[in-house]
Amino acid sequence: MRTIGIGIIGMGWMGSVHSRAYRAVPDRFPDCQISPRLIICADEVEARAKEAQARFGFSESTTDWQQVLDHPDVDVVNIATPNHMHLEQVKAAAEAGKHILCEKPVGLDPEETAEIAQIVQEAGLLSFVGYNYRWAPAVQRALELVQQGKIGRLTHYKGWLLVGYASDPGSVLSWRLQSDLGGMGALGDLMSHAIDMGMMLAGPIKRVIGQSETFIKERPVATPGQGDHYSTNRDGPTEPVTNEDYVSALVQFENGVRGALETCRVIQGPQSEIGFSIHGTEGAIRWDFERMNEFELYLTDDEQDKGYRRVLAGPEHPLHASFSPGAGIGLGYDDLKTIEAYHFMESIASGRQGEPGFAQAQSVAEVQDAIKRSWVSEHWENIQKIGPH
Ligand SMILES: NC(=O)c1ccc[n+]([C@@H]2O[C@H](COP(=O)([O-])OP(=O)(O)OC[C@H]3O[C@@H](n4cnc5c(N)ncnc54)[C@H](O)[C@@H]3O)[C@@H](O)[C@H]2O)c1
Repeated sequence: MRTIGIGIIGMGWMGSVHSRAYRAVPDRFPDCQISPRLIICADEVEARAKEAQARFGFSESTTDWQQVLDHPDVDVVNIATPNHMHLEQVKAAAEAGKHILCEKPVGLDPEETAEIAQIVQEAGLLSFVGYNYRWAPAVQRALELVQQGKIGRLTHYKGWLLVGYASDPGSVLSWRLQSDLGGMGALGDLMSHAIDMGMMLAGPIKRVIGQSETFIKERPVATPGQGDHYSTNRDGPTEPVTNEDYVSALVQFENGVRGALETCRVIQGPQSEIGFSIHGTEGAIRWDFERMNEFELYLTDDEQDKGYRRVLAGPEHPLHASFSPGAGIGLGYDDLKTIEAYHFMESIASGRQGEPGFAQAQSVAEVQDAIKRSWVSEHWENIQKIGPH
């Protein structure tokens, strides 16, 4: 049994989900013979750090994140703080020689993501990124079908991430909605997942033309150290929102596939519609996170009965059997984080860089950079290599 020492920085929503995920790895994947050990967690809010220590069983907790990096038993640092802290914390973790999982969007802007990728590569450390939606067994099955050529030569791709966490104008001005703390808005927060999924399924993107909008321009101020990005404070004083609520883009992939990506954090109707449809010359596949344990499949060789058919995720699909022995007995969001933690732990134990690491985050950032350039130029923009600021 290989023990890997874990330190987590930021014990909000993601820090908690990651903690649960590491604990679940030996239970869900006993054959991997890896035992993640929760060593130390940090949060600037002492009560959160202490509560997380007690709840998840960390040996220690602290309000000083530097102590996580200095701890001799920590092999891996898991960064789950607001985006403006990622660069400084990755730099310090790399200097301390720790492997790193960083939540998306890895940098505050595309250049920061490039800098982070460069620092970690030069230090010879392993990295991983929280693009968790790709790990749904139904999505991994879709990827297999695409790779096996079951839907033929790819022609179209549509990806979306339409969520309602900020659709109430009374929901607070959390760090996510402020450019100095969250960086880009929907382009960083939501489009990172949509671009990652699109490139995993349909290949690298060649050029884009996008648009953005901030539909709700002022919001009530958040109470520091309290609540989350779903919190409301309808009667509180308001301040301006400083990044975008909505981003969409037409995209052309290098292999000729044509498509579109759309993301919004203030939409009415969808709550967590995170999905794709991919089309080829011999079929199509459609998936949405709100029904993450199924996908729709259309194959042209069924000439008599046209239309999509519903396929339930089951034990014959990638890693589903680690969670349930039957089709239609579904996984939840936290299980995707457990699969992510498992892949990361396997990468650490084997010493081989897994996917998605910071190299994938840099590719995602290059597409974000081109979408942003196209808002200004109002023309198609080619994807270009980006470097640090
Ligand atoms: N992969 C996904 O699906 C997904 C979902 C949500 C969030 N995220 C990402 O995860 C990260 C965290 O998001 P969240 O929703 O957990 O945010 P959150 O606001 O719930 O939690 C952030 C935590 O960091 C703490 N913190 C702030 N400054 C700190 C400091 N200096 N030292 C230590 N702790 C500090 C806060 O007190 C808070 O507890 C972000 O990068 C976000 O984009 C990813």
